[in-house]
Amino acid sequence: MNKHYYITTPIYYINDVPHIGHAYTTIAADIMARYKRICGFDVFFLTGTDEHGQKVEKAAEQQGISPKELADRTVHRFSDLWETLNISNTGFIRTTEERHRKVVQYIFEKVFENGDIYLGHYEDWYCVPCETYFTETQLKDGMCPDCLRPTEKLKEESYFFRLSKYEEKLLNYMENHKDFILPEVRYNEVASFLKGGLRDLSVSRTSFNWGIPVPMNKNHVVYVWFDALANYITGIGFLDDVDQFKAFWPCDAHLVGKDILRFHTVYWPSFLMSLNLEPPKHVFAHGWWTIEGHKMSKSLGNVIDPNEVVKIYGVDEFRFFLFREVPFGLDGDFSKHGIVNRINGDLANDFGNLASRSVTMIGKFLKGKIDRPEKKGGMDEYVEDNVRRLVEEYQKEMEVFAYHKALQNAFEIISILNKYIDTEAPWRLAKEGDNRIKTVLYNIWNSLRIVAMLLYPYMPSKSQAIWNALGIGKPIDKILFDTEKIFYFMDDLGTIDKINPIFPRIEG
Ligand code: MSP
Repeated sequence: MNKHYYITTPIYYINDVPHIGHAYTTIAADIMARYKRICGFDVFFLTGTDEHGQKVEKAAEQQGISPKELADRTVHRFSDLWETLNISNTGFIRTTEERHRKVVQYIFEKVFENGDIYLGHYEDWYCVPCETYFTETQLKDGMCPDCLRPTEKLKEESYFFRLSKYEEKLLNYMENHKDFILPEVRYNEVASFLKGGLRDLSVSRTSFNWGIPVPMNKNHVVYVWFDALANYITGIGFLDDVDQFKAFWPCDAHLVGKDILRFHTVYWPSFLMSLNLEPPKHVFAHGWWTIEGHKMSKSLGNVIDPNEVVKIYGVDEFRFFLFREVPFGLDGDFSKHGIVNRINGDLANDFGNLASRSVTMIGKFLKGKIDRPEKKGGMDEYVEDNVRRLVEEYQKEMEVFAYHKALQNAFEIISILNKYIDTEAPWRLAKEGDNRIKTVLYNIWNSLRIVAMLLYPYMPSKSQAIWNALGIGKPIDKILFDTEKIFYFMDDLGTIDKINPIFPRIEG
């Protein structure tokens, strides 16, 4: 049986314009999806859009169109951006699709039948202009924390989910699955939240209409998070492709921002437990990006459009920067200065120069053909041993989403290779007519091929360009990591003598 791997992004609110935060989670998922594919997994990678709720209803009203029309007009902003960013998702789900309505109504009913949903009353402080409930502690001096206008105590009928029943079960699950929530700091955050006790959760609304009707009471619509979280099972065919669902559930990884951690690690696993489905294996919460040191916000006008960034710097450069610059899991700052430095330093100077020097030397000294290596000598063993070690470390880091460390390993190989070239000086070997040049250039060729493979999940197009320049015809997305991570000889290579500049320098 094939190995299966299932990874998701959050589904994005349709009323927002896609920005760097959305791109970040989606690229992170793409990196893992591509990595797992070359490790031989059958990967399902799901992303999509969250299209219900009061905010969408309101935005549509302001534009004088229906909420569905609004969603239809805006969904392509996301799907187009994913194409631009070379995202390899296998599924795209919109919560307004019929297949999703069926799943949400089915599971709402099941949970109700299991006795975990009951009808009650929701009572809290309501801000009429914002149409939002707040708890006592959220209020600012009794006023709405968003618009600072007065709030009033309101009571509405609502269905509740017995979240309180799952406190112990969740804590047990976490105890037995220490890597359920990553990184560790988020695990601890959720554990202490659970220990503080859980209140039952309101899972229906009567104050607006734009949502999936509650199956047993059409005056209610299903709470938008109950609806949205269910996308993860709809997307792999929960009701309409049972074999596929069984192959991919439980999900291997939900990637989310730290702001929506609780929904994914407390509410979602509880709903699943109530349905007798297994919780996801991992939820990884990443940090937030600021822009040039400031919080990104519409009112500051500093929202970064990824389409614009890639026009200036390039798609692979942007993908690389996001994960090389900041440890995945921590907050980071996006600045022009930062991205230009990374491109000119890591990519143009270190990696790009290495690739072009190497290809040029193979072209010039070996007429574009590498040969079966002679006896080993000089730094050969050192290079081979270190490449092997760093590849292993890279794999370990990838397994725990430590993307920045995985990249560091790849760049350590690059710096070892630069040292190797300087020490072994192939130009001198060529001048002296020393046969050892074949071994040295073969080692460089092979290590460079491996580095390009390690960087492939991050920079798919540039890595392919390097493989092409190394004379390898194979599409890099069809390779297998385990067979390609070793030093070997290939004799059906194209001529290795030309390389266009892969990473041009950028003026800062
Ligand atoms: N629709 C919900 C998710 C439902 S999932 C079942 C939602 N959507 S969102 O569009 O508002 O946000 C999606 C993701 O973008 C979140 O993971 C959030 O953390 C991320 N980001 C939003 N702004 C961000 C930054 N400034 N930086 C990094 N990521 C941020 O929430």
